[in-house]
Amino acid sequence: MVENNGAIRTLSVDIGGSGVKVLVLDITGKPLTQRARTETPQPAKPEAVIDAIAGLAATQGEFHRVSVGFPGVVRSGVTETAVNLNPDWIKFDLATALSNRLNKPVRVINDADMQGLGSISGKGVELVITLGTGFGSALFVDGKLVPNLEMGHHEFRKGETYEEQLGRATLEKVGEKKWNRRLEKAIASLEHLFNYDYLYIGGGEAVRVDLDLPPNVKIIPNITGLLGGIALWKD
Ligand code: BGC
Repeated sequence: MVENNGAIRTLSVDIGGSGVKVLVLDITGKPLTQRARTETPQPAKPEAVIDAIAGLAATQGEFHRVSVGFPGVVRSGVTETAVNLNPDWIKFDLATALSNRLNKPVRVINDADMQGLGSISGKGVELVITLGTGFGSALFVDGKLVPNLEMGHHEFRKGETYEEQLGRATLEKVGEKKWNRRLEKAIASLEHLFNYDYLYIGGGEAVRVDLDLPPNVKIIPNITGLLGGIALWKD
């Protein structure tokens, strides 16, 4: 039981296709610990990933609750898709399983949604895309999340999806120059579709973006994927 609300510490977890990351946030969302990271276990089955989270959590000192960003569709703590992890995640109750393991309340949302919550201004139409193992997307209207936007698996060009054209595997294959040209086309297409006020580009590969971006398009640091964890408890 926590007597002083101000002392509540939230363990924020970002499950990615290549790494699992954690840090502890204070009640205002400020980091209290150094980010810890471990490789995503292979095969990335639920039990193995939960073990990895528990191992990282043990390095973070005290915490009272847990927020998780998961790379797939999440509804009420249950993971429904996990294209870049393992089919065992389909219909897996991650919130309950992790809560039983860590003995703390757990809330789970999509990873791009969580990164968006750590980045947006809260005004107008804000779109977030994340460039990592997969292609994540999140949409906000005046700060309100439209959950589980799954743009990554929709067709972008040449019969391929955004994720097939811009995911990490393709980046390694086609190189940064071609990948950046594709990204430029993707930004143009998203602008026409969403007419957003702001577009934020995050994820582990955002550091490789090498484009002259318009003023309403911003690169966001990967740490925002964890900073967004505090927003899951704002109710
Ligand atoms: C998943 C999304 C996720 C994105 C980034 C995609 O493959 O379908 O839910 O946000 O990867 O991890």
